Amino acid sequence: MQGVEIDELARLSVLGISGGVSTPSRTTAVVNALVKAVALRVPADTGLIEITEAAPSLFAGLSRGAIGASGEAIIQRVEKADLLVVGTPVYRASYTGAFKHLFDLVDYRALTGKTVLLAATGGSPYHGLVLEHQLRPLFGFFGAVTVPTGIYGSPDNFINGEIVGAAISERISRAATEAVSLLNSNHADAAVAARVG
Ligand SMILES: Cc1cc2nc3c(=O)[nH]c(=O)nc-3n(C[C@H](O)[C@H](O)[C@H](O)COP(=O)(O)O)c2cc1C
Repeated sequence: MQGVEIDELARLSVLGISGGVSTPSRTTAVVNALVKAVALRVPADTGLIEITEAAPSLFAGLSRGAIGASGEAIIQRVEKADLLVVGTPVYRASYTGAFKHLFDLVDYRALTGKTVLLAATGGSPYHGLVLEHQLRPLFGFFGAVTVPTGIYGSPDNFINGEIVGAAISERISRAATEAVSLLNSNHADAAVAARVG
């Protein structure tokens, strides 16, 4: 497996998903920064799903069969991406209902082995463990491989919606490096599996 690098293979699709509803959204800022940090490290096609834009399609129905073509297209983007960068504001000590609804529509088999980078923002530092107590178990259910370092942003980490401060910036860099390492490992496994049939 050693020596097989992502750049020998196809470009990766890196998809950010932001559950933020404000303008500007702190959550979207963090998701965008993470997607950008990953794309600096590996050839990637990047995209972003914002819940504010996706909600009318996703809430057209409460089940996969009822959401229509535009909702189905959104869910398929999620299912097909190589890396998901998921971010949610903390609402009532958890991810938002809209964020969870999106993942309730994803096929329970579709994220198995997929690399997922976790992010959240909150109105105080006290709900930072939402990453470990809500987001990581959700993606554990899917059998996804979550990146060890998650990003939690509280109001001190932003000025006018922009991320500020060395600590959170260093954490974003570390999370992106870990994500790329996991992606390399996944692709090496896939390449080996393809070679041995
Ligand atoms: C309905 C609602 C519930 C919230 N609940 C919490 C909470 O439980 N804990 C917390 O730290 N912040 C809470 N907040 C604050 C948001 O998580 C915080 O402002 C977040 O950064 C907003 O993200 P956005 O700018 O991407 O919309 C809540 C905000 C709203 C509107």
